Amino acid sequence: MSAKVTLDYSLEVFETLLGEASRMVTRRYDNLDEAPTFAGLSPAEVASWFDEPLPDKEMDPQELLQQVDTQVMKNATLNISPHFHAYVNTGGTQISIIAELLASAVNQNLGKWHLSPIMCEIEKRVIRWCADLIDYSSSAGGVLVSGGSAANLAGLTVARNIVFENQAVRDKGLFGLAPMIVYTSTEVHGCVDKSIEQLGIGMSNLRKIPTDNDNKIDLNVLTDQIQQDKADGLQPFCLIGNAGTVNSGAIDPLDKLADIAAEHKLWFHIDGAYGGLAGALEEIRSLYKGLERADSIAIDFHKWLYQPFEAGCVLVKSWDELERTYYKTASYLSTDDQSDNRFDFNKYNFQLSRNAKALKIWMSFKAYGADRIKNAIRNDIELTRYLEA
Ligand SMILES: Cc1ncc(COP(=O)(O)O)c(C=O)c1O
Repeated sequence: MSAKVTLDYSLEVFETLLGEASRMVTRRYDNLDEAPTFAGLSPAEVASWFDEPLPDKEMDPQELLQQVDTQVMKNATLNISPHFHAYVNTGGTQISIIAELLASAVNQNLGKWHLSPIMCEIEKRVIRWCADLIDYSSSAGGVLVSGGSAANLAGLTVARNIVFENQAVRDKGLFGLAPMIVYTSTEVHGCVDKSIEQLGIGMSNLRKIPTDNDNKIDLNVLTDQIQQDKADGLQPFCLIGNAGTVNSGAIDPLDKLADIAAEHKLWFHIDGAYGGLAGALEEIRSLYKGLERADSIAIDFHKWLYQPFEAGCVLVKSWDELERTYYKTASYLSTDDQSDNRFDFNKYNFQLSRNAKALKIWMSFKAYGADRIKNAIRNDIELTRYLEA
């Protein structure tokens, strides 16, 4: 019989490597004030470091860590630096770094309840807390996804599948239906364009309404356009409000948009990837009035919850809408005992196998508490006001 094949190191070696990896992590925090935020290397130089054929033979893991330390750790863009201000980008939290290590170590698959019973409950709790934080529906359903783009795609998928459920859109597709029209402002993020293309709705059916001087959607143009489209025999079906536009952070008049959506029977989706979580701050809550009326909301935890990539979240009014959008049976997914209400996440989202994104978020909420997280968001807003002054 051949010798046992394993990719595992001895526990002693594994522990030494973990120790070295944790020192590599903590060294990243050295001298944060002085360290450059960008390594300034040329693409050609970086490419040259990795220009090698597939390695057939093993490498000493200590040497490998050394290489990662010199090339990856020391040259990674320093988004934890107090001088890093690029894009809508956070550095991650220390408790999340630990959570990611632990989540990888237990390597749970959120597809089926019994593959990940604890992580499954943790994710449901994180969704509950997220909805509570921004004062959204107490019966909200949701799923953690890779980020804001995926969260918007998920929200708009639910919109399409629920609004056109009676036309059997999941079965028949869009064939034979009058064009479905979606409304948003010209300031909307490009991932909405991509979602509209991907959902088969087509860019020519996405109406980008001009904005006012504050980069908020012009409500008069919006209502005129909806009326025009109805008169033209098209099917207005979805209105997307921005709770923090990518360019300027502008928040559309969400309450008025909710009124318009109700009047014209449109699904009301909010892209809160950038600004949604700032709705947790009592002093600016009035800007978010109407968010609680949204049918779906995209949230990004790797923005204003300071999480390491990737962590986004889609919220909808009920779990049932997610199930009606995504549920599929398959013999390989059936389990004998469903009598105890096992919650299989694969019924509620596109993915089957899915990692445990919620652990880092749950640990962050527990470790820092919502008050401290809100204070960090407050501080960011104050810094922006300082820069503006
Ligand atoms: C308003 C808005 N929506 C969506 C996105 C896309 O999010 P992600 O980069 O996490 O996919 C962003 C990213 O900056 C954003 O600002």
